[in-house]
Amino acid sequence: MSAIEKADDVLAIVLAAGQGTRMRSALPKVLHKVAGRSMLGHVLAAAGTVAGTAAVVVGPGQEDVAAEARAIVPAAAIHVQTDRLGTAHAVLQARESIARGPAVVIVLYGDTPLVTPETIRRLVDAVKAGGAVAALGFEAADPTGYGRFIVRDGALTAIREHKDASEAERAIRLCNAGLMAFDGRTMLSILDKVGNQNAQKEYYMTDAVEIARGMGLGCVAVTASEEEVMGLDDRVRLAQAEAVMQRRLREAAMRGGATLIDPGSVFFSHDTVLGRDVTIEPNVFFGPGVTVADGVVIHASSHIEGATIGAGAHVGPFARLRPGATLEADAKVGNFCEIKAARLGKGAKVSHLTYIGDADIGANANIGAGTITCNYDGFLKHRTVVGEGAFIGSNSALVAPVTIAAGAYVGSGSVVTRDVEADALALTRAQQIEKPGWAKRFRETMAARKAAKAS
Ligand code: UD1
Ligand code: MG
Repeated sequence: MSAIEKADDVLAIVLAAGQGTRMRSALPKVLHKVAGRSMLGHVLAAAGTVAGTAAVVVGPGQEDVAAEARAIVPAAAIHVQTDRLGTAHAVLQARESIARGPAVVIVLYGDTPLVTPETIRRLVDAVKAGGAVAALGFEAADPTGYGRFIVRDGALTAIREHKDASEAERAIRLCNAGLMAFDGRTMLSILDKVGNQNAQKEYYMTDAVEIARGMGLGCVAVTASEEEVMGLDDRVRLAQAEAVMQRRLREAAMRGGATLIDPGSVFFSHDTVLGRDVTIEPNVFFGPGVTVADGVVIHASSHIEGATIGAGAHVGPFARLRPGATLEADAKVGNFCEIKAARLGKGAKVSHLTYIGDADIGANANIGAGTITCNYDGFLKHRTVVGEGAFIGSNSALVAPVTIAAGAYVGSGSVVTRDVEADALALTRAQQIEKPGWAKRFRETMAARKAAKAS
């Protein structure tokens, strides 16, 4: 259980409108992924640790963005901003959600996915402590383009947009990250007073600070690191955010009891679950949906997604586990093996150069090198079942649907098309024939022919 309590009277509004032209993509900006999850997904997940309800402001026709929001928070309210008239205008599209009477409303940007639950909590707490508006600031290495925090006698009095700022104000390095929290009781009365008489002719959410001050209400500045509030406008930023997220995930993995021999070469998904005493060798990639139990060793250069790996199992080097791969305790998948939608029972071994797809492999079965489950006939997928303790000889093709029952042997090089009963031996290769002395005679004949030709 996290130390952060989630409250139903806190509403999170995520601004997610716009394509994000600098991404140069067919995909809306907030659907680009960081550690296997959309930016919007990260923001909603972080907000969801504090806020009990969520609203997302999308652009016209952005059904895909709305669908992603609902996939993360099924009850999220979706509001459409038809004209892009500024951040205050965007927030006011969620008027209906705000009017339901939440105690605190937090506004987040869909393209700022590194923000942590702790920071969101600090903004909410600043409002709960009596502020009408709390804004998140950061010390910018280069403040150009950002809104500046105007602080007098330690109090936040205004946020000045770069384009509206004086030379003196532009020298301020404490900048506006964009995230804000509002007291739900006064929020609409403040935002309804925002006008668009400024350099960009936009309705600025940042004007809320000066307006609240004018109404005699308190405004508070909360700060975070520049890294945490990074907005991902292009793919260079996207890669920088990925690096930050990976660093967090690697540190969490190690602090949770996993050994990463070369942390920088291991890539996690946002949802990777690792047990204790897991060892991960260099160059391993985790896609979404992986759970690794205690004592597992993932050898170098393995690619794993949608897989469940049981205690004490060994994977790799150079293994690929695809969605639906389930390895029970002490199972082994060795080099150049691919496992998809298949269960390997306890202690089962698939050690070399093998494809196991749509299959159920019993406990302690041994799948020889080069075995292939022929699961696809060009139209449909079919299942292969291998019973407990069965032994599949090397270079065998198991043509599904097919069952090799417990304890059976399949001779090397067989193409198995019919079921094999328990404890039987199945062989489908040609019989071996042997001609004694043939090789010696052959060599003598050929050597004589060659000599006759040369003379
Ligand atoms: C905004 C802030 C600025 C801050 C900066 C941090 C305002 C007026 N300015 O500026 O103080 O330093 O973010 O990055 O708030 N959006 C909409 N609809 C709109 C306009 C914006 O949904 O009509 C969304 C965008 O998709 C984005 C966010 O609001 O997620 C911020 O918009 P953006 O245009 O990037 O604002 P900035 O000018 O960067
Ligand atoms: Mg921006």
